[in-house]
Amino acid sequence: MIPTGLRSLRGLRSGRFITSPRSLGRSRTHPSWPASQCRCSSSTSESTADTKEKPFYITTPIFYVNAAPHIGHLYTMILADVMKRWQQVKGREAFLSTGTDEHGMKIQQAAYKQEVTPLELCDTNAAKFLALTGEGQISQDAFIRTTQEEHKSAVEKFWTQLKQSLPGSLGLYKGTHAGWYSVDDECFYPEKMVAPFIDPQTGVKVMVCTETNSKVEWIEEETWFFPLTKYKDKLLQFYKDNPGWIQPESKMTEVQNWVENNLEDLSVTRPYKRLQWGIRDPDDAKHTIYVWVDALVNYLTVAGYGSEWHPDWDRSGEKMGLWPADVHVVGKDIIRFHAVYWPAMLLGLGLPLPKKILCHNHWKMSNRKMSKSVGNVVNPTFAVQRWGTDGLRYFLMRHGSLHKDSDYSNDSIYVTYTKDLQANLGNLYYRIFRPQGQTSWSTGEAVDSFARGEFETNKQLDNPTDCATHYSALEERLRSIPQEVEKAMDENEVSAALGHIYSLLSATNRYVTDTAPWKLSKEMHIAGTPIARNWVIFNCAEAVRIASILLQPIIPSKATRLLDEIKVLPERRTLEWAKYGADTGYGLTREDRAALPKRIQSWEAIFPPVATAELTDEQIKEELGGVVANRKIGGHQPTRVAHYIEMEERMGADAVRELVEERESKESQASRVPRSGEAHAWLRAPRPAAISAPKVLLVPYESHHVAKYHGWMQDPEIRQATASEALTLEAEYRNQAEWRRARDKLTFIVCKPIDRSLGGHYEVNFLRMNTFDAMDKMVGDVNFFLHPYDGEDDDGDDGDDDKTHGKGAGREDWLTGEVDIMIADEDSRGEGMGRAAVCAMLVYVQVQLGFILEEYVMNRPEGGGPSGAALKRLMVKIKEGNQASRSLFTGLGFRQEGGVNYFGEVKMVMDLADLQRQPWWDQTLSSWIQIPYGSLREELKYL
Ligand code: MSP
Repeated sequence: MIPTGLRSLRGLRSGRFITSPRSLGRSRTHPSWPASQCRCSSSTSESTADTKEKPFYITTPIFYVNAAPHIGHLYTMILADVMKRWQQVKGREAFLSTGTDEHGMKIQQAAYKQEVTPLELCDTNAAKFLALTGEGQISQDAFIRTTQEEHKSAVEKFWTQLKQSLPGSLGLYKGTHAGWYSVDDECFYPEKMVAPFIDPQTGVKVMVCTETNSKVEWIEEETWFFPLTKYKDKLLQFYKDNPGWIQPESKMTEVQNWVENNLEDLSVTRPYKRLQWGIRDPDDAKHTIYVWVDALVNYLTVAGYGSEWHPDWDRSGEKMGLWPADVHVVGKDIIRFHAVYWPAMLLGLGLPLPKKILCHNHWKMSNRKMSKSVGNVVNPTFAVQRWGTDGLRYFLMRHGSLHKDSDYSNDSIYVTYTKDLQANLGNLYYRIFRPQGQTSWSTGEAVDSFARGEFETNKQLDNPTDCATHYSALEERLRSIPQEVEKAMDENEVSAALGHIYSLLSATNRYVTDTAPWKLSKEMHIAGTPIARNWVIFNCAEAVRIASILLQPIIPSKATRLLDEIKVLPERRTLEWAKYGADTGYGLTREDRAALPKRIQSWEAIFPPVATAELTDEQIKEELGGVVANRKIGGHQPTRVAHYIEMEERMGADAVRELVEERESKESQASRVPRSGEAHAWLRAPRPAAISAPKVLLVPYESHHVAKYHGWMQDPEIRQATASEALTLEAEYRNQAEWRRARDKLTFIVCKPIDRSLGGHYEVNFLRMNTFDAMDKMVGDVNFFLHPYDGEDDDGDDGDDDKTHGKGAGREDWLTGEVDIMIADEDSRGEGMGRAAVCAMLVYVQVQLGFILEEYVMNRPEGGGPSGAALKRLMVKIKEGNQASRSLFTGLGFRQEGGVNYFGEVKMVMDLADLQRQPWWDQTLSSWIQIPYGSLREELKYL
């Protein structure tokens, strides 16, 4: 139960620490990448050796370490990772490199401002990027840092060759450079790309680059030049000969135009006296090599250039191993460096060019560029915690684009997660492989039935059922899906590939409803075998199996879990197995099914419920449109969304939206009274609140409280008093996330009270996380758990309740609320905080009771529906010897019921009907306020 709003952090995952061949330490030795360290596909390295095909080499840009990573960085990494994993699904060995770009003016200045050495700054932030690869499940084979020794040798070799081994006019030359330099972008801009700009905040006039809006400064200095203009014709010819080299095409046109019109020789050093943080020109120590030359060479360093090319994949004596890269993934802002400067330098040295530059657009927030100063930068670690790695990966791949900027919003992630993953894929999986209720079948038997050719026999029947018609339709889709996805993925259009998979799954969900397999068992037997049902089940199982194979690159953990659960052998998960009917050895037997728990708890589901994302009804109408139209169906939220998807599948998305809008407008004319307690109440959860009472502040339990809570639990006395065991920090995080999502638990952290004298201070009107609930303010916790009613049948005692809660109410819908309080901080004991916390929480429970019960009912694992659920009484269990707690609860109006139980506890109870009659009630209520607490956007800014 999360009455403070259905927003919770998902548990912190322990980031998988990649055993990177390049440790974060500053190794002096040349690294080698033993084949065993490449996370490779099921294709064996022998096959590579035989065919001499080098592994598919894919790179991400290396990231500047002047600041912590943001969501755009994670997106680039995920896109590259998906491309790598796709190669593996196709059976090809693949190698992914990523890393950090650590030299240059930008880093030097950032370190200076933060009063740390550049290396310290690099170490701190490189560790964050490395950690992010774990959080995002990036399967990189190399994590390069440009401050590593082996990279320095590669750059020096590259540099020396540029300087010394090129024919006169094509090699580096010395001159004086005057121009506009941007430290943010680490490059010079030509005069025509620069314009004056008056800073609205300071009124100061500055010069900025009109393309990136970055500030530029005029610089005149002696420098080495790379004669880029001499490469103009070669470059243009190369683009012409290789039209698909830059993807998308629009970017190729941009680059060609730029080379036609803007090419200037490139200044490739900075004076050492201005830039010390970089690699020095080995034979002209007054100069530091330009950071972009340094950075681009990383792609070669990883391939072994500078010492020896990667030794494991030497091809016919070329000794280039991995090189050339098959794809450089880059963002739109760095296309010129990769598509103009880089190929020109490689052409100069006679090295093969990368085979493709894949350029993606950017993520924005509310249509604005993400920027630290605007405060709309999304912290990727936080996003992973909130949505889960696979949920986030799916969203970024479904909505990220090579063609236009995409808008990042939690609303949109929530909708995508609910609709695509929970309601479409998850729902289909559970419907087919783990059906609930009386009807049951075995997917294993269905697969066997297919293997025996029984459906073919059925097709030849004189009187084919409806099922045969539907069968053919789905079969066609099942047969075509691998090719559709392969085409899209080979064209690097991941979003389109996901669109195909989504549409297969939604067609299959519709097929289940149309064919109603639960009825088929009775209707159609041939020679004693329920063939029709098996036929349908097999097709649906195929949809889940094929979709899971194809989804492995995008949602690796969930797809693996699905394939494991449906018992697809690990060696049958490559593209060739994604064909319809290719695998006849998977599925669950009846025994497998019998061994599984009957009910699936919502948090154990493959796509467990996640927090809503502060959706307004307007946004929901816009995005999901028709969910409300399904309210007559009842059921829990994914079921309703699943129904909506089916409607879309039948009628088309626009028709459904129109229908819903029409309905909505009719209903709103008929009644202006807001509906409450109806199926879409989940859309209107109250905003998260903290509760301020005179002696305490209660805040919803969030992940940043976990460390403190964990600290308390290390104390054996507290463990004994609370009958708890010590858990690992990681388990504690998981608990927090689960408790936050659970429908039958409510946990507040008890904090020291807010100092009212602060009055109008903004933080009191809006409680930001980590302010009044910072580490030193937390003193304990208070919990409320809902259980089935545990009291005597109290007929006659307050028989009114049945009327209050409707005719359907009966004991099975009655609930007991258990209260549990702990003041762990010794210094805060004896000040009445425990009492104040319990009173404040009970007021909260009573004020929000409608919503609490609604949420309890709606989120039942077996689905919601009309209910007369009623909270009948309150209960607390206290250790017999704990006099302080006993007198606290006696003072609040609780009375002991029964004797001491097996655990040495006494039970104290109070009927809910008596609650508001207690002497403390009015006083608490009048001095009690709810304060909005850390909205998501605020969290993003302040965490
Ligand atoms: N260090 C250079 C790259 C050198 S590669 C030899 C650099 N680093 S960066 O940290 O600024 O950017 C790294 C990548 O993140 C770039 O591809 C950039 O386009 C990408 N993104 C930065 N902001 C982004 C979004 N808002 N959205 C998507 N990608 C974003 O440039």
